[in-house]
Amino acid sequence: MTLIKAAICGAGGGIGQPLSLLTAQNPHIGEVSLFDVAPSVFGVAADLSHLDGTAVVKGYTKDNDGLKHALSGAQIVIIPAGVPRKPGMTRDDLFKINASICRDLATGIADYAPDAIIGVVSNPVNSTVPVFVETLKAKGVFNPRKVFGVTTLDIVRASKFVAEVVGKPNDAPQYTIPVIGGHSGKTIIPVISQSKPSVDISGETLSTLVNRIQFGGDEVVKAKDGAGSATLSMAYAGSKFLNAVLDSVYGGKSNVIQSYVYLPELPGGDAIKSEIGKDVAYFSVSVQLGKQGVEKVLPVGPLSDYEKGLLQEALPELDASIVKGVGFGKSSL
Ligand code: NAD
Ligand code: LMR
Repeated sequence: MTLIKAAICGAGGGIGQPLSLLTAQNPHIGEVSLFDVAPSVFGVAADLSHLDGTAVVKGYTKDNDGLKHALSGAQIVIIPAGVPRKPGMTRDDLFKINASICRDLATGIADYAPDAIIGVVSNPVNSTVPVFVETLKAKGVFNPRKVFGVTTLDIVRASKFVAEVVGKPNDAPQYTIPVIGGHSGKTIIPVISQSKPSVDISGETLSTLVNRIQFGGDEVVKAKDGAGSATLSMAYAGSKFLNAVLDSVYGGKSNVIQSYVYLPELPGGDAIKSEIGKDVAYFSVSVQLGKQGVEKVLPVGPLSDYEKGLLQEALPELDASIVKGVGFGKSSL
């Protein structure tokens, strides 16, 4: 098997550390570069470099052309860099700081790893993915098949919370529930009517469940009480994302995942606009993966009247977040 190089940007952080641990265990990976602006990343790299797996682990900061060395030759780059929320903040409150971080990292990826698959974790995902796309476009290296907003944590939460509601808390792995739209509050649209296996949840139980999936992030922010947001569940979700992508791109599988992608240049992307009745450029949907990354965007499928209502509530906020990210991406280059 050809072993590949992965890079984690923000590797010294709350998500970055456990995500680096899980990434170093992926059998497709021969090298993991851990990049962070904080020098503590060298300690994280030293620690993980003792694992007896296939991966060689190296740490980098900005010094000595660190970003260049971390990214050069990387086939996949995951980005959990930037500030997390504190109680009372929205994800959009992080935009001011995280948008610049994302623009700078996107510029580095364009320069040193232009063919890499990119997984954007940094919030607000609804806007940071457009920042990445606009930066990569301006640098002439944008490939819509390879840029993913990582919304896997919403999928993970949906499986877990549905299993709990139906009284089978140990059965979360058996439930697959699409979550479409974006990754922020009301823009997160769980499609419980398409749950596999199907579930019979309605009325107040359904609205409480949907609200919990939409605001699961807030639940963790509140419980951490100023110490940040979800890190371990995000690392778990990020690892699920990375494993699914690498198994398709390098392992010959054609996995289907949900991700926040740029629709206009992807096969099947236009059909989503007709299905949801709005011309949004970015949307979290099911995508079929292949050797090149996204092979095609899969239809949203039938929504219940309740879910159609959630979609209508989501679209204005999603649209505004996209406009903000695109505007920043275009103006700051
Ligand atoms: P954290 O503060 O613990 O870690 C962030 C790391 O990024 C720090 O080590 C910091 O030094 C580093 N960093 C800052 N600027 C950088 C730069 N320019 N280049 C490289 N590294 C840089 O935060 P965290 O809890 O790990 O969260 C990181 C981000 O992920 C936040 O924006 C958070 O909102 C987001 N997040 C997203 C999801 C999701 O579902 N997509 C889930 C949880 C958290
Ligand atoms: C989450 O969903 O847990 C993340 O987006 C972090 C947050 O700010 O809630």
